[in-house]
Amino acid sequence: MDGTRAGTRPFDIEAIRREMADDFDEELEMELEDERMEQLASEIGAKPRAPSMDRKVYFRELFRLQHELVRLQDWVQTRKLRVVVVFEGRDSAGKGGAIKRITQRLNPRVCRVAALPAPSERERTQWYFQRYVAHLPAAGEIVLFDRSWYNRAGVERVMGFCTPDQYEEFFQSAPEFERMLVRSGIIVLKYWFSITDEEQELRFNLRIHDPLKQWKLSPMDVESRRRWEDYTKAKEVMLARTHIPEAPWWVVEAVDKKKARLNCISHLLAQIPYGDVEHPPVHLPERMRHDDYARQPV
Ligand code: ADP
Ligand code: AMP
Ligand code: MLT
Repeated sequence: MDGTRAGTRPFDIEAIRREMADDFDEELEMELEDERMEQLASEIGAKPRAPSMDRKVYFRELFRLQHELVRLQDWVQTRKLRVVVVFEGRDSAGKGGAIKRITQRLNPRVCRVAALPAPSERERTQWYFQRYVAHLPAAGEIVLFDRSWYNRAGVERVMGFCTPDQYEEFFQSAPEFERMLVRSGIIVLKYWFSITDEEQELRFNLRIHDPLKQWKLSPMDVESRRRWEDYTKAKEVMLARTHIPEAPWWVVEAVDKKKARLNCISHLLAQIPYGDVEHPPVHLPERMRHDDYARQPV
């Protein structure tokens, strides 16, 4: 065969290249943004850093992992698995960027993100876990929590949005809550994105100087700089008290964003044994012959 198949035109290699390049461009755009940040960093006098991995190596590995994520998605869908992935970490740790790379090639109906805002007045009167429960996956779904019920052990604790009793109660409940999820058959994964004090300071400064990123810097973030030590303590307590065999914490070293994303995705893939799903081959059907109609410009 010379690239033709019944029902389709000959493949145009240039068109294929163009399509694939468009696909890569999306990742390149995000990557160039990271590089623009490096540039800004030197402009505001940040110490030069060891360069991260070569872009080509990164892309190749990312695309390989995203291909695996597609296989995982297929598996989750056909085996009707339910998966919860919790992303926690300090402000600007890079949770959002990792989540974007995971969802980028997936079906949003299979893999979706839950990023809940601060609780409403009404929600504040409910059982603490209630509003999170509403976002748990049904069969064949993966839900990525961009922050989660762990807010109570972090921001709520440090900023004083909960009482000491509520805080203590959280540590009684959270492990029980997660055990219930696991017993019901849900796969629960928890990642802590870890950055250094210097790195957060740099990222916040970049946000201040970058009009495209200013929106990311909330008053809560600014306050978290001042309360770095409080957050450190809160993190230590949280990891110690909620690290359970049924749902352990995994720490992602996140100062190097590229490595953090690749590590996190490949770790996630390794936690869920998945295999190939057999699909009957798909052939594009021949078009119906309504010649007059078909010749109309559209
Ligand atoms: P983001 O990190 O998405 O930019 P913020 O920095 O404003 O958002 O807030 C950090 C976290 O603190 C969010 O998860 C938000 O839901 C939570 N939060 C903010 N205000 C409150 C509040 N009054 N009570 C409880 N949680 C809050
Ligand atoms: P401190 O530990 O006194 O420096 O407090 C740091 C912040 O955490 C303050 O905003 C306190 O209101 C808050 N905080 C301290 N202890 C608790 C607690 N048990 N529950 C909720 N918030 C707290
Ligand atoms: C992150 O980078 O970890 C998230 O985007 C959270 C934030 O913006 O602070």
